Amino acid sequence: MIKPHGSEVLKPLYVADENARKELYTEAESLPSMIINSAAAANAVMLGGGYFTPLNGFMTMGDAVSVAESMRTEEGIFWPVPILNLTNKIDEIKGVSRIALRDPNIAGNPILAIMDVHGIEVISAKKKDAIAERVFGTTDSKHPGISVFKELGNYCVSGPIQVLNFSYFEQDFSGTFKTAVEIRRDIDDLGWRKVVAFQTRNPMHRAHEELCRIAMERLDADGIVIHMLLGKLKEGDIPASVRDSCIRKMVDIYFPVNSVIVNGYGFDMLYAGPREALLHALFRQNMGATHLIVGRDHAGVGDYYGAFDAQTIFDEIPSGTLEIEIFAADHAAYSKKLNRVVMMREVTDHELDDYVILSGTRVRELLSEGVNLPPEFSRPEVASILMDHYQS
Ligand code: ADX
Repeated sequence: MIKPHGSEVLKPLYVADENARKELYTEAESLPSMIINSAAAANAVMLGGGYFTPLNGFMTMGDAVSVAESMRTEEGIFWPVPILNLTNKIDEIKGVSRIALRDPNIAGNPILAIMDVHGIEVISAKKKDAIAERVFGTTDSKHPGISVFKELGNYCVSGPIQVLNFSYFEQDFSGTFKTAVEIRRDIDDLGWRKVVAFQTRNPMHRAHEELCRIAMERLDADGIVIHMLLGKLKEGDIPASVRDSCIRKMVDIYFPVNSVIVNGYGFDMLYAGPREALLHALFRQNMGATHLIVGRDHAGVGDYYGAFDAQTIFDEIPSGTLEIEIFAADHAAYSKKLNRVVMMREVTDHELDDYVILSGTRVRELLSEGVNLPPEFSRPEVASILMDHYQS
């Protein structure tokens, strides 16, 4: 099986032993604590599940700057996006070496993790902008990832963590939320060797479906893990529970049995385009995938990134940095001439009008107006779940 990133073994920071976990909960109740922000909580959940192997916790400013500038931690580990615990409130934790991290996303802010505080550093607005510019390629507050990043706080609290639960993901998405440890085990049990991962934050439309099918066929893969984002999204994006239903319905009807696993991960979308694509690949390697599909405008938003920047960035990192490979897909759309979804680069004699292409905005407009999505764009069974959601 493919090795985890930067390590011989997966390093989940979740404390799996029940007694040890109970003791840590008891200890945590007596520790000074901080309510972390959702981005930091999502990082903790990813660290807990082994997805962020080989990191052992939250980065220092030195690591964050190094990662932003050169995609390496100060220690030299390849990492494309800083993994930070930022805050504005440090009064309760100043001078303390061990603290409890409380969950911002559950009522009552229960304990999510314990942290050994190695440092609390101030970040200047200038440094924050410099990091944002390198990671997101912009400092524009209209970018949904930047607007979140700018509000996270001006202190960086760093150090190793022990994770005690998986926040709201386990309960809200039971059966879909899985850790990297679990997915590795499932892949191993199925005996899959060549495994394609498909990242998505959307209900899967026909282009998405066909990308999975094409990648499977061309790579001669044993199976595909459709791995959806379950964390926070920008306004207007479809909630995870609805996407989950759409995807499961589509897989049930249109894919052969035992060829697809449908799972999700607890992380908030960054919309960081190319850098996020690298992170996506890295943590799919950790869950045991050998390939990640990267299509058009992967993890992008608006016009901030070139349509295929998230593919070309993989050519810019030294070969061997990651073991996982990408399946670079061209823009896919339904061809009215051929009556099937095609990769646009692969067909001749087509004008733009020969395709059925709908923007996300147009899809939302149609559904809000109660107009069914065209069957060339979305499977009717998927379109009907989406319509129910919009009309309810
Ligand atoms: S993403 O933010 O998770 O990338 P989305 O769920 O829409 O958004 O896309 C999932 C994957 O499918 C990404 O790799 C994306 O590049 C690819 N993709 C989505 N739509 C198309 C399309 N029409 N043609 C080619 N690739 C696409």
